[in-house]
Amino acid sequence: MNSLCSVAVLLSCLVLLFLGKESLSHPLSAPLKLKQPLSFCQFNGSVCCNSHEDLKLQKQFKAVNVSGSCSSLLKSLLCSKCDPFAAELFRAESESRQVPVLCNSTVSSHKSTQSLAGIDFCTRFWSECQNLSVTNTPFASQSGDGGNSTLYEIWKSRNDFCKIFGGSSDESSVCFNGQAVSFDISKATSPSPSGICLEKLANGSFLNMEPHPDGSNRVFLSDQAGMVYLATVPSQGSREVLTIDETNLFLDLTEEVHFDAELGLLGIAFHPDFSRNGRFFVSFNCDRVKWPECSGKCACNSDVDCDPSKLDSDDGATPCQYHSVISEFFTNGTYVKPVEVRRIFTMGLPFTSHHGGQILFGPKDGYLYFMMGDGGSKGDPHNFAQNKGSLLGKIMRLDVNNVPDAKAMSQFQLWGNYTIPKDNPFTQDKNMLPEIWAMGVRNPWRCSFDSERPSYFLCADVGEDKYEEVDMITKGGNYGWHYYEGPLPFTSSKTSKNSTKITNPILPVMWYKHSDVNQKEGSASITGGYFYRSSTDPCLYGTYLFADLYAGVIWGGAETPLGSGNFTSSHILLQCTSDSPISCSSDTDSSSSSSSSSSSSSSPALGFIFSFGQDNNKDIYLLASSGLYRIVRPSRCNFHCSLENGTSLVPSRQPDRSPPSPSSSQRLHNSITQSDRINGKMAMEVCLWRWVNWLLDNPVCSGLLKMELMVNLKQMEMDDVNLKTVQLSSSGSLNG
Ligand SMILES: *[C@@H]1O[C@H](CO)[C@@H](O)[C@H](O)[C@H]1NC(C)=O
Ligand SMILES: *[C@@H]1O[C@H](CO)[C@@H](O)[C@H](O)[C@H]1NC(C)=O
Ligand SMILES: *[C@@H]1O[C@H](CO)[C@@H](O)[C@H](O)[C@H]1NC(C)=O
Ligand SMILES: *[C@@H]1O[C@H](CO)[C@@H](O)[C@H](O)[C@H]1NC(C)=O
Ligand SMILES: *[C@@H]1O[C@H](CO)[C@@H](O)[C@H](O)[C@H]1NC(C)=O
Ligand SMILES: *[C@@H]1O[C@H](CO)[C@@H](O)[C@H](O)[C@H]1NC(C)=O
Ligand SMILES: *[C@@H]1O[C@H](CO)[C@@H](O)[C@H](O)[C@H]1NC(C)=O
Ligand SMILES: *[C@@H]1O[C@H](CO)[C@@H](O)[C@H](O)[C@H]1NC(C)=O
Ligand SMILES: *[C@@H]1O[C@H](CO)[C@@H](O)[C@H](O)[C@H]1NC(C)=O
Ligand SMILES: *[C@@H]1O[C@H](CO)[C@@H](O)[C@H](O)[C@H]1NC(C)=O
Ligand SMILES: *[C@@H]1O[C@H](CO)[C@@H](O)[C@H](O)[C@H]1NC(C)=O
Repeated sequence: MNSLCSVAVLLSCLVLLFLGKESLSHPLSAPLKLKQPLSFCQFNGSVCCNSHEDLKLQKQFKAVNVSGSCSSLLKSLLCSKCDPFAAELFRAESESRQVPVLCNSTVSSHKSTQSLAGIDFCTRFWSECQNLSVTNTPFASQSGDGGNSTLYEIWKSRNDFCKIFGGSSDESSVCFNGQAVSFDISKATSPSPSGICLEKLANGSFLNMEPHPDGSNRVFLSDQAGMVYLATVPSQGSREVLTIDETNLFLDLTEEVHFDAELGLLGIAFHPDFSRNGRFFVSFNCDRVKWPECSGKCACNSDVDCDPSKLDSDDGATPCQYHSVISEFFTNGTYVKPVEVRRIFTMGLPFTSHHGGQILFGPKDGYLYFMMGDGGSKGDPHNFAQNKGSLLGKIMRLDVNNVPDAKAMSQFQLWGNYTIPKDNPFTQDKNMLPEIWAMGVRNPWRCSFDSERPSYFLCADVGEDKYEEVDMITKGGNYGWHYYEGPLPFTSSKTSKNSTKITNPILPVMWYKHSDVNQKEGSASITGGYFYRSSTDPCLYGTYLFADLYAGVIWGGAETPLGSGNFTSSHILLQCTSDSPISCSSDTDSSSSSSSSSSSSSSPALGFIFSFGQDNNKDIYLLASSGLYRIVRPSRCNFHCSLENGTSLVPSRQPDRSPPSPSSSQRLHNSITQSDRINGKMAMEVCLWRWVNWLLDNPVCSGLLKMELMVNLKQMEMDDVNLKTVQLSSSGSLNG
């Protein structure tokens, strides 16, 4: 259950969970960015205590009745519970503790912590606090008698005391030296990837790749002509090719699909419960002239001041001859007869281009997101993308679990058999069609949710003249087309003068100029990808990958600080490993391969990069005109990534539908360790994740927490979407 890994969900859960739950032994709350510092525990920035917990610590401190030099040491010890890295401090070798690990050595072997060395805090604590009575202190629980004995009476010597409470900072834990833990950002920053190493697994050219929802090592692949295949992915390093059983197709829609430049089978999506209900969805284009069932309302209609009879014919097609369709299918085995169970959506297209077509299920809300471009032509002449009464130039969000009744059909004038999620933005903006989730896009070509932070919904939007962009899609967001292209205002002679200019769109989080990849105007087209979340190349972990269709180049976008929406992107070198199951070079010159065995990689001849794919291990694939490529371990192309054989920082994920278990909590822990290394920055998330890990590993709390998490998850999902949306859209406008 990946949604459980969402920081945001956990945040909401925890906030809810710990309101009024004073019975837990540890002060717990979501980490807070304080408006004013705590009055007792003096911490700056993010802390894991609120003022209430601060007060409790103050009371505890008073109850101990300590004076003299030990007093400030004891205070710092109590306050360490508010340290943003508290959960890290209060555990050693995955054991949770009542007293943080007290630094007992003057050298730190932890690469990324700073200012920990130089103080043997344990010895200092012993010498100044040995007469401290353990009552009311965190030492009480380990004293055995719980009476008024002093540290000295119980442990007798510094050595015995520090054997129990001491320790040093190493790769697996940090120790407490009396001050807030801080990480040395320069040392903690991950080595950025020196390159992406690919292997070629198939010759075929595909537009979509979706992992089988049953978690097996199988994927669905679809091509533009209308075929859907089920294929088995070979394990990494096996040197086997992807096996597609071409004689046993999964689905053949070539009869129904109209296949041409930008038209074809454009999207496939499997119901989150596919393994049980066999429901899946296909988005494609059809031709009214060739297929009678290809008919629906025309997107150019009087509601949007558009007269189809006045549109120019485009590519020989009459307006609304071609349609965008989402159809539902069902399977109980491997082969599907192409029999539609239900027509979900049908819309006639004014022109032959810019109609997105991707569909995907929201990982948290379970709704179907449908990407739709502005409908074509130059400069969106009818201003569809900014027209809230048009579905062109929009990201839609549909509920396909409930079939509408006649009343809903007519109330909302639906375009098919879906219902409207109750919290779609139209509830706040009555002018908006109820299907709309976000607006102002030109031709969204490949969107994805970050599998670890589902509120990060990134869409690449294809530009027209100068810029290609990546947008962070939020509820009700307006991304500016056609008044903006990339980060700058856009003007076109063909654009209608009648519409109100928008002045404050949400600007893209990343973009590139056409001239960055090609000197010719209009000669670039972005292909959106994924946040890399696989363990295969730890140096790519957390990086958002995207490409240009024509230029054969890949960018990596890194967010600093984590959670800020501030992304910087840069080119990443692409190579293909020499032991690729299928050779990556365009010429199949086999004689040279033996002589060139010393070079371990070469530039792959990719052709067009149509799309990206992801499998159940979160490995990322390039879907190019020349074939299907997988990102493999960097060393296979002689790229150096120091984390590559590390202590499994991001363990490979086996499909896991169960609630957090010790192993998945370990996974949470590990993945955040990795990403804070990458970001070199302690963020609110980090603090929270550590708390959660601490909790899950704490035998007393974990059962309770797990139950609460599960119970609250469903309810939290909705609240969380709203919460995060507010957060992100405000950071979006800050960028602008
Ligand atoms: C907190 O910040 C203030 C002002 O930036 C500084 O004077 C103070 O020393 C800081 N306190 C700690 C505990 O870092
Ligand atoms: C606190 O300690 C002082 C001396 O160390 C003692 O006189 C006083 O009675 C103590 N107070 C309490 C409430 O125990
Ligand atoms: C602890 O108590 C002993 C005996 O009462 C005394 O000799 C010693 O100085 C005290 N140590 C500290 C650090 O106060
Ligand atoms: C600790 O000492 C105080 C005062 O001497 C006494 O009232 C209390 O009962 C003692 N507590 C224990 C657990 O022995
Ligand atoms: C520090 O603590 C660790 C763990 O308790 C122990 O193994 C080590 O010997 C201690 N080192 C010193 C110098 O006391
Ligand atoms: C892919 O194409 C290459 C070159 O045309 C050919 O040698 C190879 O056998 C093909 N591999 C597969 C799995 O189809
Ligand atoms: C699959 O569904 C078809 C049609 O409903 C039915 O005839 C067939 O027996 C089913 N197969 C399995 C394995 O359930
Ligand atoms: C709803 O689905 C049914 C069954 O596939 C189909 O006959 C009907 O046309 C659909 N309605 C719309 C508006 O697409
Ligand atoms: C301009 O827009 C308004 C309102 O949308 C509409 O009433 C008017 O007819 C439009 N004018 C032209 C020339 O299209
Ligand atoms: C955004 O990221 C860049 C590159 O990492 C960094 O230099 C800059 O300070 C960041 N800006 C903000 C507002 O955090
Ligand atoms: C990781 O292991 C592989 C295979 O054992 C090796 O080729 C590679 O050089 C190693 N990478 C690093 C960074 O140590």
